[in-house]
Amino acid sequence: MVNVALTGATGFLGLRLLRCLLERHRTLTLLTHSASADTLGRITRFLASTGAPEGLTAELPARVRVVPTDLSRPRMGLSAAFFGELADELDAIWHSAGSINLQGDLASLRRVNVEGTRAVLELAAAGHRRPVVHHVSTAFVAGARREGVVYEDELDDAHDFENSYERSKYEAEVLVHAWARAHHRPVVVLRPSILVTDHPPHPDLPRHPLQVMDQLMGEALRTAGHVGTRHPGPDRPVLRLVGRRYGHLNMMPVEDAATAMVRLSDREPSGRVDTYHVVHDHDVPVSAVTELMERLAPLRARLVDRRPDDVSALEASMDFYPGITPYLSHLRRYDDTRARTVLGPPRSVTRVDVDYLLSGLRPAHPVRPAGTPTGGPH
Ligand SMILES: NC(=O)c1ccc[n+]([C@@H]2O[C@H](COP(=O)([O-])OP(=O)(O)OC[C@H]3O[C@@H](n4cnc5c(N)ncnc54)[C@H](OP(=O)(O)O)[C@@H]3O)[C@@H](O)[C@H]2O)c1
Repeated sequence: MVNVALTGATGFLGLRLLRCLLERHRTLTLLTHSASADTLGRITRFLASTGAPEGLTAELPARVRVVPTDLSRPRMGLSAAFFGELADELDAIWHSAGSINLQGDLASLRRVNVEGTRAVLELAAAGHRRPVVHHVSTAFVAGARREGVVYEDELDDAHDFENSYERSKYEAEVLVHAWARAHHRPVVVLRPSILVTDHPPHPDLPRHPLQVMDQLMGEALRTAGHVGTRHPGPDRPVLRLVGRRYGHLNMMPVEDAATAMVRLSDREPSGRVDTYHVVHDHDVPVSAVTELMERLAPLRARLVDRRPDDVSALEASMDFYPGITPYLSHLRRYDDTRARTVLGPPRSVTRVDVDYLLSGLRPAHPVRPAGTPTGGPH
């Protein structure tokens, strides 16, 4: 029997990875966050709300072993004896835990994303069975490079980073490479783009990056005194955002990303670091993001070349959010040749457009008025 451990199993991506891994493995060890309560309850509610067979939900307590950990602490907060025992049992470790706080400070992000990765690598190094590490990174380790093609083997900080989250994930990947070289061990690095879903939000489910954007727009409108006003048509306040008219972003349905990652892990590792871009074969235009904003909030989003001198209170609140505004200027693409070599031609037929994204942000949404352009280029 292959013994597999997973970190971050309660996360937006981790829950989907967990479901895919349960299709392949009879049992799993979940290295969960000790600071959070009711892990099994959260997982059970996710499985139930996403239509998992009842049998799977009922079997869950017998199929998963929950080990509470804190990845930001030495040995994950486990005793030396238990850490050693655990290490010796494992054949594979999937590391999906992390902080995706795009507004976070570098020190806090490093504690979880860099030190957490270090703890996972130490666990892998301590095990007699030499477990293979599957490290979940991000396509955004490419940093503030806004144009051109990013290749799977590229990893450098020459372009700096849009925010501290990107830098912390880059540093974690650098650590993975150094560890693989020092220990002569394979690591599979999986780099998804922005993960999205059309599954409506629910208080029991983890939040995803576009929900944060939605929340911040609501807060910005309230701060600027636009609460309660309906702002019909042209009276809606204008939100000027620095961005590129022909910009585009890669957004990957989270379920498709998890499926692809688990399929990529079927391949015998090369013995070094194998990095895969886990991306959609079509980008979403920046104009779809601004259309999404207008459908979420009573405002008119306009792209401008440079920050205006006379910013409104609304614009001042939104302008500095490092999780969205810099990306409106992105034109780069991700080469996924290595991933495609394993996966074959794209099998995902999920169309990511404004309606898809809206479904993942509102329980129900109004029908698009006739004549409104669609979001995606597909
Ligand atoms: N979401 C995206 O768009 C996206 C895109 C590209 C790459 N990624 C990468 O994918 C991975 C998963 O992201 P996600 O969207 O699933 O994030 P998420 O929903 O925020 O989940 C993060 C997971 O990490 C756990 N965790 C956080 N701090 C921990 C700690 N100190 N010790 C142990 N566990 C801890 C959380 O547990 P609790 O919930 O119990 O705190 C949760 O299970 C991350 O590495 C992220 O960088 C995400």
